[in-house]
Amino acid sequence: MPQDTITVTDNRTGQSYTLPVENGTIRAMDMRKIKTGPGDFGLMTYDPAFMNTASCKSAITFIDGDKGILRYRGYPIEVLAENCTYLEVAYLLLFGELPNEAQLKDWVHDITHHTMLHETTKKFMEGFRDNAHPMAMLVSTVAALSAVYPDAKNIHDPETRLLQIKRLLGKVPSIAAFSYRHLVGFPYIYPDNDLTYTENFMNMLWKMVEPKYLAHPVLARALDILFILHADHEQNCSTNAMRAVGSAQADPYLATAAAAAALSGPLHGGANEEVLRMLDEIGSKENIPDYIEKIKAGKGRLMGFGHRVYKNFDPRATIIKRTAESVFEVTGPNEKLDIALELERIALEDEYFIQRKLYPNVDFYSGIIYQAMGFKPEMFTVLFAIPRTVGWLAQWQEMLTDPEQKIARPRQIWIGNDTREFVPMDKRGK
Ligand code: CMC
Repeated sequence: MPQDTITVTDNRTGQSYTLPVENGTIRAMDMRKIKTGPGDFGLMTYDPAFMNTASCKSAITFIDGDKGILRYRGYPIEVLAENCTYLEVAYLLLFGELPNEAQLKDWVHDITHHTMLHETTKKFMEGFRDNAHPMAMLVSTVAALSAVYPDAKNIHDPETRLLQIKRLLGKVPSIAAFSYRHLVGFPYIYPDNDLTYTENFMNMLWKMVEPKYLAHPVLARALDILFILHADHEQNCSTNAMRAVGSAQADPYLATAAAAAALSGPLHGGANEEVLRMLDEIGSKENIPDYIEKIKAGKGRLMGFGHRVYKNFDPRATIIKRTAESVFEVTGPNEKLDIALELERIALEDEYFIQRKLYPNVDFYSGIIYQAMGFKPEMFTVLFAIPRTVGWLAQWQEMLTDPEQKIARPRQIWIGNDTREFVPMDKRGK
């Protein structure tokens, strides 16, 4: 019997089946051989939230949740956050290798020269109500780019794909910044090509009447680090949406909009905004024990805590905590940080959180930094979406070029009625 196999016995029939095991995985389609008789469809697996189902093979991001490891293309996240810029990491995620000096120069040039929005896109954004949530504006406007760039439909051409990737990486910060300016009622600021990716984003957010916006270097670097930490996270909810929509061969603008829509949910990228609301609700350190009791009694969740994959610590949270210190040296002490630190301390000593392996995740401290830097909570998820765009696009390309991938189409277990007799309107009762 070959070693890399598993033998299962179907107790319904007494029959045994030997199935290959590859990469610690059996193929779900092999289960279909397991039948009770010729009319049987074959055995399926049931996994409503993909708790134990690999949907793809990937070489982009590696996570070991038990050990708290996160690597992009083999490089530990700590090393990348320490030594790279966001655009360098974006290149790595997309092309598999770190760029050399010339490659990085061209890459930065290309992304920088795709930051402008078409004036009709600007007009489209102006049509939103003045209190529109920036995340809703981002999702809709990214989808609207599909109408601006019809060439994007040519998804099988690598050059066309790369052009759309550059456009998206260049334009998403511009859309994000405009969605913020729209919310606060200030005019749209055009990109400034002299600035770095994050400096330019800050320029488009905060420039007022000064002739040239100059970002504080410590804050610009902190934002760049946050962008690196958020760039990819393998098969999370939004990436799964990107791959699923992309598998139908929708263009990358529509697939990215779908991914961003998934990210907006409070259990995913929306959590950082919720953390701030939670800290506001707690108000002061004395109220923390009562708040924790409320959570333990099942009334809500401790936002920014827990993760589907990390069951020890989230390495991104550790780096963010350090980054927070450099930001607060510039922006001054922050009372929310004190509440957050105390909340973390109490939760980490509590049996409820210990037993369930609930630790601070990436969203726990990021919101506090963003607020200290001057961002409104409505922008927090947008700040997650900007850097995650490259992760979505890298995963999308990998999916499109993987010969094993087809249109994503899960199965269901039917639990509804059998065929029913139609009831005419006059017989349906009151
Ligand atoms: N506060 C209190 N209890 C929690 C929390 C929390 N934040 N997270 C999980 N639990 C409990 C949950 O009630 C359950 O308890 P029990 O076994 O008694 O029913 C147990 O822990 C397991 O929870 P789960 O819902 O089965 O875990 P999951 O892997 O499906 O959920 C999660 C992961 C991130 C959605 C969840 O931990 C959560 O809702 N956290 C708060 C929201 C949040 O911070 N999200 C950001 C995630 S990181 C950034 C990103 O990827 O977007």
